[in-house]
Amino acid sequence: MKEEELPIGKSAIISAGEAEIALFNYKGNYYAVTNKCPHRGAPLGEGRIEEGIVICPNHEWRFKLENGANMQNPELFIPTYPVKVKDDNIYIGLEGESGNIAYGKKASTLPSSLKFNVPTIQKPRNPEEELD
Ligand code: FES
Repeated sequence: MKEEELPIGKSAIISAGEAEIALFNYKGNYYAVTNKCPHRGAPLGEGRIEEGIVICPNHEWRFKLENGANMQNPELFIPTYPVKVKDDNIYIGLEGESGNIAYGKKASTLPSSLKFNVPTIQKPRNPEEELD
């Protein structure tokens, strides 16, 4: 996508494989986040932006464009993607940061008391077993 196709204040929704990405030109900087709101899946690319925060068009959940942080719940993040401009073309990195951030809680934001390893269960429970 060319820079001139996304003027300041505009957004675009881009399909990349299975992912849908909302790309914003906010004050001349580009930001890419998942297009899917984690609440009920509304397209964040159709949301409005206030002070660097995209507001979901459906129920107004708010996410910081810079890092995907939800403004109401400090433990909720949406995936973000790095954006680069080269020769007037806009590129979105599909790997990298987005691989570290998933829906839900970000491990590093959990208090240390909640960090523990869950042992892998290697043997399935006996399917014949009956619980009473
Ligand atoms: S779908 Fe986004 S806030 Fe409900």
